[in-house]
Amino acid sequence: MKKLMAAMMAAVLSMSLLTACGSAAEETAPAETATETTEETTTAELTTEEEAAPAEEAAAESSALADGVLNVGTNAEFPPFEYVNDNGEPDGFDIALIKAIGEKLGVEVQVDNMEFASLISSIGSKIDVSIAGMTVTDERKESVDFSNSYYNAVQYVILPEGSEIATADDLKGKAIGVQLGTTGDFIAEEIEDATTSQYNKAVDAVNDLANGRLDCVIIDKNPAMVFEAKFEGKVAAVDGAQFGFEPEDYAIAIPKGDTALADQINTALQELIDDGTFDSLVSQYIEEN
Ligand code: ARG
Repeated sequence: MKKLMAAMMAAVLSMSLLTACGSAAEETAPAETATETTEETTTAELTTEEEAAPAEEAAAESSALADGVLNVGTNAEFPPFEYVNDNGEPDGFDIALIKAIGEKLGVEVQVDNMEFASLISSIGSKIDVSIAGMTVTDERKESVDFSNSYYNAVQYVILPEGSEIATADDLKGKAIGVQLGTTGDFIAEEIEDATTSQYNKAVDAVNDLANGRLDCVIIDKNPAMVFEAKFEGKVAAVDGAQFGFEPEDYAIAIPKGDTALADQINTALQELIDDGTFDSLVSQYIEEN
Protein backbone atom coordinates (compact mmCIF):
# COMPACT_ATOMS: atom_id res chain seq x y z
CA MET A 1 0.00 0.00 0.00
CA LYS A 2 2.74 2.42 0.94
CA LYS A 3 4.52 1.54 -2.29
CA LEU A 4 1.39 2.24 -4.31
CA MET A 5 0.95 5.60 -2.58
CA ALA A 6 4.56 6.49 -3.32
CA ALA A 7 4.14 5.53 -6.97
CA MET A 8 0.97 7.62 -7.22
CA MET A 9 2.67 10.58 -5.57
CA ALA A 10 5.56 10.30 -8.00
CA ALA A 11 3.14 10.18 -10.90
CA VAL A 12 1.31 13.28 -9.67
CA LEU A 13 4.59 15.07 -9.15
CA SER A 14 5.92 14.31 -12.60
CA MET A 15 2.59 15.34 -14.12
CA SER A 16 2.74 18.71 -12.42
CA LEU A 17 6.33 19.10 -13.60
CA LEU A 18 5.19 18.34 -17.10
CA THR A 19 2.44 20.92 -17.01
CA ALA A 20 4.86 23.46 -15.55
CA CYS A 21 7.20 22.91 -18.51
CA GLY A 22 4.28 23.09 -20.89
CA SER A 23 3.11 26.45 -19.69
CA ALA A 24 6.65 27.83 -19.70
CA ALA A 25 6.98 26.90 -23.36
CA GLU A 26 3.65 28.51 -24.15
CA GLU A 27 4.72 31.72 -22.44
CA THR A 28 7.62 32.15 -24.86
CA ALA A 29 5.32 32.03 -27.88
CA PRO A 30 4.03 35.65 -27.85
CA ALA A 31 7.62 36.97 -27.82
CA GLU A 32 8.24 35.34 -31.20
CA THR A 33 5.23 36.89 -32.83
CA ALA A 34 6.10 40.26 -31.32
CA THR A 35 9.35 40.39 -33.31
CA GLU A 36 7.84 39.56 -36.69
CA THR A 37 9.35 41.76 -39.37
CA THR A 38 7.24 44.30 -41.16
CA GLU A 39 6.89 44.06 -44.91
CA GLU A 40 8.24 47.45 -45.76
CA THR A 41 10.80 49.24 -43.70
CA THR A 42 9.62 52.62 -44.82
CA THR A 43 6.10 52.01 -43.56
CA ALA A 44 7.30 50.74 -40.15
CA GLU A 45 6.12 53.10 -37.43
CA LEU A 46 7.34 53.76 -33.94
CA THR A 47 5.09 53.17 -30.97
CA THR A 48 4.69 56.09 -28.59
CA GLU A 49 6.84 54.26 -26.06
CA GLU A 50 9.72 53.95 -28.51
CA GLU A 51 9.40 57.59 -29.46
CA ALA A 52 9.78 58.54 -25.82
CA ALA A 53 12.97 56.50 -25.47
CA PRO A 54 15.64 57.41 -28.04
CA ALA A 55 17.90 54.54 -29.11
CA GLU A 56 20.88 55.71 -27.09
CA GLU A 57 19.04 56.05 -23.78
CA ALA A 58 17.80 52.50 -24.07
CA ALA A 59 21.33 51.14 -24.69
CA ALA A 60 21.77 49.54 -21.28
CA GLU A 61 18.75 47.29 -21.67
CA SER A 62 20.13 44.37 -23.65
CA SER A 63 22.84 42.30 -21.99
CA ALA A 64 24.47 41.92 -25.42
CA LEU A 65 25.46 45.61 -25.23
CA ALA A 66 26.51 45.65 -21.57
CA ASP A 67 30.21 45.63 -22.51
CA GLY A 68 29.75 48.65 -24.78
CA VAL A 69 30.54 46.56 -27.87
CA LEU A 70 28.21 45.20 -30.50
CA ASN A 71 29.87 42.15 -32.07
CA VAL A 72 28.58 41.80 -35.59
CA GLY A 73 29.05 38.80 -37.85
CA THR A 74 29.02 39.17 -41.62
CA ASN A 75 30.27 37.40 -44.72
CA ALA A 76 32.08 40.02 -46.78
CA GLU A 77 31.60 38.22 -50.12
CA PHE A 78 28.39 39.97 -51.11
CA PRO A 79 28.90 43.34 -52.80
CA PRO A 80 27.49 45.99 -52.51
CA PHE A 81 26.18 44.94 -49.07
CA GLU A 82 29.51 43.63 -47.77
CA TYR A 83 32.94 43.16 -49.26
CA VAL A 84 36.54 43.54 -48.19
CA ASN A 85 37.82 47.01 -49.15
CA ASP A 86 41.30 48.00 -50.33
CA ASN A 87 42.47 48.28 -46.72
CA GLY A 88 41.46 44.69 -46.05
CA GLU A 89 38.48 45.78 -43.92
CA PRO A 90 34.84 44.64 -44.23
CA ASP A 91 32.95 47.48 -45.92
CA GLY A 92 29.68 48.04 -47.80
CA PHE A 93 26.08 49.12 -47.21
CA ASP A 94 25.38 46.70 -44.36
CA ILE A 95 28.62 47.55 -42.57
CA ALA A 96 27.92 51.30 -42.82
CA LEU A 97 24.34 50.70 -41.65
CA ILE A 98 25.29 48.65 -38.58
CA LYS A 99 28.00 51.18 -37.67
CA ALA A 100 25.38 53.95 -37.84
CA ILE A 101 23.09 51.84 -35.65
CA GLY A 102 25.96 51.31 -33.18
CA GLU A 103 26.51 55.06 -33.05
CA LYS A 104 22.84 55.64 -32.23
CA LEU A 105 23.08 53.03 -29.48
CA GLY A 106 26.31 54.50 -28.12
CA VAL A 107 28.30 51.29 -28.56
CA GLU A 108 31.39 50.32 -30.51
CA VAL A 109 30.78 48.04 -33.50
CA GLN A 110 33.21 45.19 -34.13
CA VAL A 111 32.80 43.28 -37.36
CA ASP A 112 33.75 39.63 -37.67
CA ASN A 113 34.05 38.33 -41.25
CA MET A 114 33.05 34.66 -41.35
CA GLU A 115 31.45 32.01 -43.56
CA PHE A 116 27.83 32.79 -44.39
CA ALA A 117 26.71 29.30 -43.38
CA SER A 118 28.19 29.78 -39.85
CA LEU A 119 26.45 33.07 -39.06
CA ILE A 120 23.14 31.84 -37.64
CA SER A 121 24.72 29.29 -35.30
CA SER A 122 27.23 31.89 -34.02
CA ILE A 123 24.56 34.40 -32.96
CA GLY A 124 24.35 34.66 -29.18
CA SER A 125 27.80 33.12 -28.69
CA LYS A 126 30.64 34.26 -30.97
CA ILE A 127 28.67 37.26 -32.26
CA ASP A 128 25.77 39.32 -30.91
CA VAL A 129 24.00 39.90 -34.22
CA SER A 130 24.49 39.35 -37.93
CA ILE A 131 24.05 41.72 -40.85
CA ALA A 132 24.77 39.96 -44.13
CA GLY A 133 22.08 40.74 -46.70
CA MET A 134 20.29 38.00 -44.82
CA THR A 135 16.83 37.05 -46.00
CA VAL A 136 14.13 36.52 -43.39
CA THR A 137 12.96 32.89 -43.71
CA ASP A 138 10.67 30.76 -41.53
CA GLU A 139 13.42 28.21 -41.08
CA ARG A 140 15.90 30.81 -39.79
CA LYS A 141 13.20 32.22 -37.52
CA GLU A 142 13.29 28.92 -35.66
CA SER A 143 16.85 29.76 -34.51
CA VAL A 144 16.99 33.57 -34.42
CA ASP A 145 14.79 36.67 -34.33
CA PHE A 146 14.97 39.37 -36.98
CA SER A 147 14.89 43.16 -36.81
CA ASN A 148 12.43 45.04 -39.00
CA SER A 149 13.41 44.44 -42.57
CA TYR A 150 15.55 47.13 -44.23
CA TYR A 151 15.77 46.05 -47.87
CA ASN A 152 13.73 44.18 -50.50
CA ALA A 153 15.47 41.75 -52.79
CA VAL A 154 14.89 38.87 -55.17
CA GLN A 155 17.15 36.12 -56.51
CA TYR A 156 18.63 36.76 -59.97
CA VAL A 157 19.94 34.26 -62.47
CA ILE A 158 23.39 34.99 -63.89
CA LEU A 159 23.84 33.40 -67.31
CA PRO A 160 26.77 33.16 -69.70
CA GLU A 161 26.42 35.78 -72.45
CA GLY A 162 24.23 34.32 -75.21
CA SER A 163 22.65 31.59 -73.04
CA GLU A 164 19.19 30.43 -74.10
CA ILE A 165 17.96 29.84 -70.56
CA ALA A 166 14.90 32.08 -70.08
CA THR A 167 12.22 30.29 -68.03
CA ALA A 168 11.93 28.14 -64.89
CA ASP A 169 11.57 25.07 -67.12
CA ASP A 170 14.91 25.79 -68.79
CA LEU A 171 16.66 25.47 -65.41
CA LYS A 172 15.74 21.78 -65.08
CA GLY A 173 18.74 19.47 -65.27
CA LYS A 174 21.23 22.35 -65.38
CA ALA A 175 24.54 22.84 -63.54
CA ILE A 176 23.81 25.62 -61.05
CA GLY A 177 26.29 27.53 -58.89
CA VAL A 178 25.22 29.07 -55.57
CA GLN A 179 26.72 30.40 -52.36
CA LEU A 180 26.49 27.74 -49.65
CA GLY A 181 23.56 28.10 -47.26
CA THR A 182 21.89 30.99 -49.07
CA THR A 183 18.33 31.30 -50.33
CA GLY A 184 19.75 30.86 -53.86
CA ASP A 185 21.10 27.50 -52.66
CA PHE A 186 17.66 26.52 -51.27
CA ILE A 187 15.97 27.47 -54.57
CA ALA A 188 18.50 25.51 -56.65
CA GLU A 189 17.98 22.41 -54.53
CA GLU A 190 14.29 22.40 -55.50
CA ILE A 191 14.96 22.48 -59.25
CA GLU A 192 14.33 19.16 -60.91
CA ASP A 193 17.42 17.16 -61.92
CA ALA A 194 19.68 20.16 -61.43
CA THR A 195 23.21 19.69 -60.11
CA THR A 196 24.06 22.29 -57.51
CA SER A 197 27.64 23.37 -56.81
CA GLN A 198 27.91 25.20 -53.48
CA TYR A 199 30.67 27.80 -53.15
CA ASN A 200 31.88 29.61 -50.04
CA LYS A 201 32.52 32.70 -52.16
CA ALA A 202 29.93 33.78 -54.72
CA VAL A 203 32.61 35.29 -56.94
CA ASP A 204 34.15 31.82 -57.39
CA ALA A 205 30.81 30.56 -58.73
CA VAL A 206 30.63 33.43 -61.21
CA ASN A 207 34.21 32.75 -62.24
CA ASP A 208 33.33 29.11 -62.98
CA LEU A 209 30.29 30.32 -64.93
CA ALA A 210 32.44 32.63 -67.03
CA ASN A 211 34.80 29.71 -67.67
CA GLY A 212 32.01 27.45 -68.91
CA ARG A 213 31.87 25.12 -65.89
CA LEU A 214 28.29 26.07 -64.93
CA ASP A 215 25.06 26.85 -66.79
CA CYS A 216 23.98 29.58 -64.35
CA VAL A 217 24.46 31.11 -60.90
CA ILE A 218 21.53 31.94 -58.64
CA ILE A 219 22.24 34.88 -56.35
CA ASP A 220 20.55 38.01 -54.99
CA LYS A 221 19.82 40.91 -57.36
CA ASN A 222 22.38 43.53 -56.29
CA PRO A 223 25.41 41.20 -56.06
CA ALA A 224 24.31 39.73 -59.43
CA MET A 225 24.45 43.21 -60.93
CA VAL A 226 27.87 43.90 -59.40
CA PHE A 227 29.19 40.59 -60.81
CA GLU A 228 27.63 41.33 -64.21
CA ALA A 229 29.67 44.54 -64.34
CA LYS A 230 32.81 42.81 -63.04
CA PHE A 231 32.59 40.06 -65.68
CA GLU A 232 31.41 42.45 -68.39
CA GLY A 233 30.68 40.88 -71.75
CA LYS A 234 30.93 37.36 -70.32
CA VAL A 235 27.78 37.07 -68.21
CA ALA A 236 24.31 38.62 -68.01
CA ALA A 237 22.11 38.99 -64.88
CA VAL A 238 18.41 38.21 -65.34
CA ASP A 239 15.56 39.10 -62.94
CA GLY A 240 14.44 35.98 -61.06
CA ALA A 241 10.81 37.12 -61.25
CA GLN A 242 11.02 35.80 -64.80
CA PHE A 243 11.74 32.37 -63.27
CA GLY A 244 8.98 32.67 -60.66
CA PHE A 245 11.27 33.50 -57.70
CA GLU A 246 9.55 35.22 -54.78
CA PRO A 247 10.52 38.62 -53.30
CA GLU A 248 12.76 38.48 -50.20
CA ASP A 249 13.39 40.84 -47.26
CA TYR A 250 16.75 41.50 -45.61
CA ALA A 251 16.92 42.00 -41.85
CA ILE A 252 19.44 41.90 -39.00
CA ALA A 253 19.49 38.55 -37.18
CA ILE A 254 19.29 38.84 -33.39
CA PRO A 255 19.53 36.22 -30.61
CA LYS A 256 16.20 34.50 -30.18
CA GLY A 257 14.14 36.12 -27.43
CA ASP A 258 16.33 39.24 -26.99
CA THR A 259 13.42 41.60 -27.50
CA ALA A 260 15.30 44.43 -25.74
CA LEU A 261 18.03 44.30 -28.40
CA ALA A 262 15.47 43.97 -31.19
CA ASP A 263 13.65 47.09 -29.90
CA GLN A 264 16.88 49.07 -29.64
CA ILE A 265 17.98 48.10 -33.14
CA ASN A 266 14.55 48.81 -34.63
CA THR A 267 14.41 52.21 -32.91
CA ALA A 268 17.88 53.11 -34.20
CA LEU A 269 16.97 51.89 -37.69
CA GLN A 270 13.82 54.01 -37.71
CA GLU A 271 15.80 57.07 -36.55
CA LEU A 272 18.25 56.53 -39.44
CA ILE A 273 15.35 56.27 -41.91
CA ASP A 274 13.71 59.41 -40.50
CA ASP A 275 16.88 61.52 -40.48
CA GLY A 276 17.81 60.58 -44.08
CA THR A 277 20.98 58.63 -43.20
CA PHE A 278 19.49 55.40 -44.52
CA ASP A 279 18.71 56.88 -47.94
CA SER A 280 22.11 58.47 -48.25
CA LEU A 281 23.74 55.09 -47.56
CA VAL A 282 21.52 53.54 -50.25
CA SER A 283 22.70 56.07 -52.80
CA GLN A 284 26.31 55.88 -51.66
CA TYR A 285 26.67 52.10 -51.67
CA ILE A 286 23.87 50.59 -53.76
CA GLU A 287 22.71 53.02 -56.41
CA GLU A 288 26.19 54.09 -57.42
CA ASN A 289 27.20 50.51 -58.20
N1 ARG B 1 19.95 36.79 -49.16
C1 ARG B 1 20.58 35.51 -49.23
C2 ARG B 1 20.31 34.72 -47.98
O1 ARG B 1 19.94 35.27 -46.99
C3 ARG B 1 22.06 35.59 -49.47
C4 ARG B 1 22.86 36.33 -48.46
C5 ARG B 1 24.34 36.18 -48.63
N2 ARG B 1 25.03 37.13 -47.85
C6 ARG B 1 26.37 37.20 -47.72
N3 ARG B 1 26.84 38.16 -46.99
N4 ARG B 1 27.15 36.35 -48.28
O2 ARG B 1 20.44 33.54 -47.94
